[in-house]
Amino acid sequence: GVGVTRGGGGVGRRRVLVFPLPFEGHINPMLQLAGALHGRGGLSVTVLHTRFNALDPSLHPELAFAEVPDGVPPDVAAAGSIAEIIHAMNAAMEGESSPTWTSVRDVLASVVAADEEKPPAACLIIDANLLAVQKAAASLGLPTLVLRTGSAACLSCFLAYPMLHEKGYLPPKESRLYEPLKELPPLRIRDLFYSGQANHEIIREILARAIETVRNSDGLVINTFDELEPPELERIRGEVDVAVVLAVGPLHKLSPVDYAGRSSLLRQDHSCIEWLDTQATGSVLYVSFGSLASMDSDEFLEVAGALHSSGHPFLWVIRPDLVRGSHATTSTRLPDGFERAVEEEGRRGKVIHWAPQQQVLAHHAVGGFWTHAGWNSTLESISEGVPMICRPQFADQMMNTRYVQEAWGVGFELEGELKRGEIERAIRKLMGEKEGAGLRERAEKLRKKVAGCLESGGSSQVALDKLVKYIASL
Ligand code: UDX
Repeated sequence: GVGVTRGGGGVGRRRVLVFPLPFEGHINPMLQLAGALHGRGGLSVTVLHTRFNALDPSLHPELAFAEVPDGVPPDVAAAGSIAEIIHAMNAAMEGESSPTWTSVRDVLASVVAADEEKPPAACLIIDANLLAVQKAAASLGLPTLVLRTGSAACLSCFLAYPMLHEKGYLPPKESRLYEPLKELPPLRIRDLFYSGQANHEIIREILARAIETVRNSDGLVINTFDELEPPELERIRGEVDVAVVLAVGPLHKLSPVDYAGRSSLLRQDHSCIEWLDTQATGSVLYVSFGSLASMDSDEFLEVAGALHSSGHPFLWVIRPDLVRGSHATTSTRLPDGFERAVEEEGRRGKVIHWAPQQQVLAHHAVGGFWTHAGWNSTLESISEGVPMICRPQFADQMMNTRYVQEAWGVGFELEGELKRGEIERAIRKLMGEKEGAGLRERAEKLRKKVAGCLESGGSSQVALDKLVKYIASL
């Protein structure tokens, strides 16, 4: 059985299907888009999801859900890289139905169909990494739109990948990492997707497939806003021949409910909000490295030491798998007496496993964010006018960092080995009254731009209306 768990709207209304890539940084924006389409556009929504990182339908009573077999082998699900999981998923989803396997095409065919509770689906909105799903939709005549959960700059980089290979920038050579890319300012070779870290052939294939998905789609939705990345959006509009290219972001601000809270794969600890209430305005450094980035135990101790001695209040998210190779609870790996010390010293610090991040960043007490610069974290920080220290690790994080620092001037990279002294210096540069003043000023200006795109008649509101109209026209 396909297992559609709940109905949506009445007959005559439009319905859309959405299918996120099953990772936190992709699920959150897709469900936020679903929320915006449902709440604002009056569309009913069916969410397709895999068993791997499955969503909990009971948390989203206004949406319908259907599970799609993903075929990710247990060992890959447990220990594979994202690239391996995406690869396994697409390979399995290309398969035909058999006695032991329901093809994605058959799942789609049954979910698309109308019943007493649901109108027929007008289109499918998918993550760009799900090419196999798009092919299945195409074979059923179902239009597809792609939601790009990264920046416009990131997508425009993907589009440039073949050129970057042709011109010899890629695969990157150690000696040329700091060379500027005159075709893609302000990026350098070092800032390109995955450069330096991963197997280039796998990355090349994943990006080529993502671009194929985008080019084959009927429309493209990007989680950004027009005023943030004008040249990058223009480049995309010039290069991708689809019916609509819409900058509908920041999605967490367009969605009527807190989807990040509800779609969170880890339980958010809300006790930190009460703690923030006791702290002075703009005084707290929020430290979180998203859902995947990690560090080794030496780095972890350097961070703990620096936060302890920096003198600034801090809220630190220590995800259960933040420290590589640690399976014990992370707090047991903190330096002796760390928690007692931060508690006793005027309750200067707080450590939690997972935060309600959007609420934390919106809290008046938070004055800075030390982040891995995932795109959601970056957008969420920009939306609240919070300046950043960026510590990028992989994927689009390096290029996001470059934009934060060079294009928008609302943060800077902490580069090199993670050492206590360097971290303390970076914290002073961000949080210091004088040192951080310029960053704060620019962050506040950028926050006003975000507020502008969200006002009635603002660019993202207009784009959302266009998207609803476009879906209605299909
Ligand atoms: C991944 C990649 O790392 C990133 O580069 C890419 O842009 C998207 O996919 P992730 O590591 O999950 O992303 O980071 P990010 O994009 O910042 O998304 C994290 C999400 O988790 C955000 O929506 C954030 O609000 C949420 N979060 C984070 C929490 O709810 N609690 C936390 O404590 C930390």
